[in-house]
Amino acid sequence: MKAAASLQKRLSLGLTLMLGVLWLVASVTAGLVVQGELNEAFDSALEETAQRILPLAVLEIINRDASDAAQHIAALQAHNEYLTYLVRDNNGKILMQSHDANPAVFNPLPVEGFSNTASHRLYGASALRESVFIEVAESLKHRREAALDASRALLLPLLGLIPLSLLGCWLMVRFSLRSVLAYRRAIETRGAGDLSPIEVANLPAEIAPLAAAVNHLLERLRSALEAERSFTANSAHELRTPLAATLAQIQRLRREAPAGPLQVRAGQIEASLRGLARLCEKLMQLAKAEGGGLLATSPQDLALLSSYVVEELGRTAGERLKLSLPGNDHVLSNIDPDAFAILLRNLIENALKHGASDQPVAVSLSSSGLLRISNAGPALPATVLAQLSGRFVRGNSQAEGSGLGLAIATTIARGVGASLSLASPVPGLPDGFAVSVQFVLSSPAPML
Ligand SMILES: Nc1ncnc2c1ncn2[C@@H]1O[C@H](COP(=O)(O)OP(=O)(O)O)[C@@H](O)[C@H]1O
Ligand SMILES: [Mg+2]
Repeated sequence: MKAAASLQKRLSLGLTLMLGVLWLVASVTAGLVVQGELNEAFDSALEETAQRILPLAVLEIINRDASDAAQHIAALQAHNEYLTYLVRDNNGKILMQSHDANPAVFNPLPVEGFSNTASHRLYGASALRESVFIEVAESLKHRREAALDASRALLLPLLGLIPLSLLGCWLMVRFSLRSVLAYRRAIETRGAGDLSPIEVANLPAEIAPLAAAVNHLLERLRSALEAERSFTANSAHELRTPLAATLAQIQRLRREAPAGPLQVRAGQIEASLRGLARLCEKLMQLAKAEGGGLLATSPQDLALLSSYVVEELGRTAGERLKLSLPGNDHVLSNIDPDAFAILLRNLIENALKHGASDQPVAVSLSSSGLLRISNAGPALPATVLAQLSGRFVRGNSQAEGSGLGLAIATTIARGVGASLSLASPVPGLPDGFAVSVQFVLSSPAPML
């Protein structure tokens, strides 16, 4: 699947790109306008200069002794001339020139008004009935540089603008999306069985309907699951009484029947009825495991609860059950005591029922909250092991059962945030079966 694109990234990049392009267009437009205005200003300066110098040059030429040599106007101070000029007669003979003037850049014969050569902009004016001409030249390079400087000044801020805009957009979008992120966290951190509506304030108008739809969906899911669960629990409960009554009847029948095939048949029916009663019991346990209320409001001592369950089962199992607890430490976890007892009872029953009948069953609880039940017996293939936690799934055990024990234990463990794992053979041994449940420990309730 293609990774979803981040809205934050997309918006930041998109907005910055748009801003950059708009700035660029604005800069180019402004650059063109500035260039036009600069040209006008330069042209006017060129014209003004020519008009100013011409009378002075004419006066100078008239007053000068009739020497033919063109006069170079000496510079007062060494400087680079932006404007150079030539004063010529109508045959193109040079009468006067500025000190830097290069005749090659001017038109071969004087031209009045504005004209362009490859490298210069020229302005020509005449005096004394078009017998003396002045032409002022300005390098086009100079104009180009001025326009370039102006464009550069307009474009330079773009370099700072791009990272600033990226950062600004990124922060803005992050700020706007913070309620959406809070919403995501609220969904992520809730427990597996928590189907209550998700409350998040200040969601953006675009997301709020989505959150409402999710809550609506959760509500429907919750009521569907609730209906399924209560149906299972109710049917199992309703079956219990008639089953018990029928069992009592069949037991009486068996006792009263003459020894022979009838009594054997009655015995078989009794065994089936007991199986049915056990199935009812397991179904009720599964309904409880799948319901809420698996967590206790105050921490419970798992060591104490384990010793109760082992003691209760030990009455029928005798010497086979070995319990080891972590000294006098309390092992505290927020699990409903009934739920813990159901989980442990199912796991121990399995070990007694499916494990090698002449070997002990070890139940241990560590101070870190690791509960472990192990027994001897033939190892199970990994493929079978992976399926065992499913409902109504049974291994190749000869013992009676419904296939619900491990499903109940797994469901309870998941509901309280514990992790349950199966191993066969027992790690470090050639055979056997072990179930480990790691509970989440809680700190002791504060003393009041
Ligand atoms: N302690 C155990 N030792 C060996 N096999 C086990 C053990 N616990 C469970 N199993 C296997 O896992 C299967 C599923 O267990 P479970 O869900 O409790 O159903 P049931 O006990 O009713 O058969 C069992 O049928 C058995 O094959
Ligand atoms: Mg079982």
